[in-house]
Amino acid sequence: MNYKFKKFPGRILEIEVKSSPEDTIYESGAVIAKPIAVVDRLSSFYFHNSRIERDEKIFTISCQKEKWAELKIMETSKGIRLIIEIEDGDGVFGLGEEVGPLNKRGRTYEFYNTDEPEHASTKTKLYSSFPMFMVLSPKKALGFFVDYPGYSKMDICHEEENKIIIDVAGQAFKLYLQGDTPDGITANFVELTGKPILLPIWMLGYQQSRWSYPDEKTVLSISREFRNRSIPCDVIYLDIDYMENFKVFTWDKKKFPDPKALLSKLRDMGFKVITIVDPGVKVEEGYELYEEAKEAGYFCTNSAGTPFEAYVWPGKSHFPDFYNARVRKWWGDKVSEFKAIGVAGIWNDMNEPSIFFTPELIEEIKTTVKNLSPDLGMLADFTINQIPYEKRYRDHGKKFFHKDDHGNVISNRQIHNIYGFNMTRATYEGLINHYKTERPVILTRSAYPGIQRYGILWTGDNASLWEQLYQEIQMLQSLAITGVNFTGSDVGGFGGDCNGELLVRWTQFGVFQPFFRNHSAIGTRNQEPWSFGEKYERIIKKFIELRYALLPYIYSALKEAHDTGQMIVNPLLYKWPEDEKTYEADDEYLFGPSLLVAPIYKANATGRTVYLPGMRWMNFFNGRIYEPGYHYIEAPLDSLPLFVAENSLLSMTEPSQYVEKAIWKGLKIIGFVTSNASICIYEDDGVSLKYLDKAFSRKRVEIWKTGDKLLARIHPEAGELKTSERKINFEIFDGTHTHVGEFIDKGEGGVVELEKKLKN
Ligand code: GLC
Repeated sequence: MNYKFKKFPGRILEIEVKSSPEDTIYESGAVIAKPIAVVDRLSSFYFHNSRIERDEKIFTISCQKEKWAELKIMETSKGIRLIIEIEDGDGVFGLGEEVGPLNKRGRTYEFYNTDEPEHASTKTKLYSSFPMFMVLSPKKALGFFVDYPGYSKMDICHEEENKIIIDVAGQAFKLYLQGDTPDGITANFVELTGKPILLPIWMLGYQQSRWSYPDEKTVLSISREFRNRSIPCDVIYLDIDYMENFKVFTWDKKKFPDPKALLSKLRDMGFKVITIVDPGVKVEEGYELYEEAKEAGYFCTNSAGTPFEAYVWPGKSHFPDFYNARVRKWWGDKVSEFKAIGVAGIWNDMNEPSIFFTPELIEEIKTTVKNLSPDLGMLADFTINQIPYEKRYRDHGKKFFHKDDHGNVISNRQIHNIYGFNMTRATYEGLINHYKTERPVILTRSAYPGIQRYGILWTGDNASLWEQLYQEIQMLQSLAITGVNFTGSDVGGFGGDCNGELLVRWTQFGVFQPFFRNHSAIGTRNQEPWSFGEKYERIIKKFIELRYALLPYIYSALKEAHDTGQMIVNPLLYKWPEDEKTYEADDEYLFGPSLLVAPIYKANATGRTVYLPGMRWMNFFNGRIYEPGYHYIEAPLDSLPLFVAENSLLSMTEPSQYVEKAIWKGLKIIGFVTSNASICIYEDDGVSLKYLDKAFSRKRVEIWKTGDKLLARIHPEAGELKTSERKINFEIFDGTHTHVGEFIDKGEGGVVELEKKLKN
């Protein structure tokens, strides 16, 4: 083994691992931080509370002079193996978009981006790869990131109780070790791979999608329905049927005769439109995009050097080679041209890339079918069952090739996991280039670490099943650990039929997902908020309104993430790593700095047990105070367990039907304060990049107790944006009494004494 070591800011160590010095590292593009030092020989390196030492064959990791892990790196017939021996009870957290519990122990996970339509708990891979995790116990925390864009597999204490066995299917990669507190590891990882983009405010609104709203008439009627029923909504999605024969960057003129006029009509009603854009380019003579790319050699190739051919929505398709900078530039220009008619954002799908089949595969399947005979008995049955599997999940990566910027040919197998990442990057760079003052909005299904620099991720084709609702609660947190701040699941479930109760419970969870979109598959029951009758509609509306009421709080958390890498969603173990009960509590999480949310994810449930860690908590809905520990919380259908931390605040506003600006006409500060608390209110125009030139306002609101009085102070902290005169109302509970007050905010800040009321 050959090693090179680099030190990065934030106590991060890079170990470049190569079987032999000539082996090539395929750069993933995930890491953008610059090293501060190159170390020829590593004898030891200090993390926050651990230290690593190297002797001939192994790395030893210790904490307070006690060894707690051993790392061995060795060659195998298929690549390189890492074995990390950890201790009994160490938790392993992270790995991003994988099914299963928050603590990853006891399972095997694969990293090979795959269009997996069934998110069953047996599955080992999905659309994205985040080979990053942390090992955690009350006394230590250490992060690992295996930066390899091809196939890898991690056995996390499955085969052997305390061993993490990582197989990398290549001869060279980079390993990053990062030591800090658990939330510090994520913040460092974000430092390494880039800060999340700042999204426009309307992306925090409720969003409605379906595969598909197939024509202009349907899109308009759905939009009017929202406004007629006064259910807030900001974004409508157009799925694949808006295109002519699924050709990217085209419109089906029969179903959408005047897309520009439609988009402008919707804009007047307060809706933004996001359109799907898939990578597969239809092979069709005369189709401009196809002709242009073919001529310029922009498509991935097969081993003979001609464009690789496979079948997706448009039928026979070729795939742009996003690994190549020229192709990215070309694609970015095309997206920008397409956006010009008034599209607000781009939804990148099928970018693993998903391939239904290749002509060769069909031939193979035909041969398999031809050779089927009843005499094969069980084997025949087995073969029949294997066919759909083969068809869908075939590793086509060996069959096609990319060209790097220097003309070197690289097999997709080596860099498979960054196809979607580079497509998103191409889109982002194109949009930022052409729309210099606008914040780009890109949604992607396939990703790799660093994706937060370019776009946001949704978790793909889940199903309308209660167990998948639970799974999404876990996945949301695992993704946050790996730096994906802005993500969410299809609310209501994509595949299968939803029902009223499930939609209510999923919407309640959706309010506390950064990305809040209801989406469902073709052929399934409709699941717009009104689909299951008045009883459910009323509750769904109430919760969507709660989301809009919380926008000042959520937007400030979004900005905080953009500035510091502090995630919006945080597992409880981030704040209480010394409390091992938080390692299990993966069905609840912190949302922003002050809220703990424990969604209901069981059918017919009217409450659930919630673990409240470390401090006292106030029930958001009824003001009841809870001591730390386990509590059964009643939560009939129109409620969910939601708590405000002791000595913390929330900033809220009146809900609106949609949001254009992140400047609030009025604010309400609520909280649970027994000594003192503070919160930041960040505001700006909500859409542009002018905040970079100080066109924002950041104010701090502080509440503190003196004697039995509560005082509130507002003071401007930064920014040059002037907000107009407005009222800030206070409603703060101190454990026995509510204190209320009003402050007229003219911009310069001030102090107000709150009035004590008997709690009712
Ligand atoms: C994929 C996407 C899904 C979309 C469908 C049709 O399955 O994951 O969201 O609706 O394709 O475009």
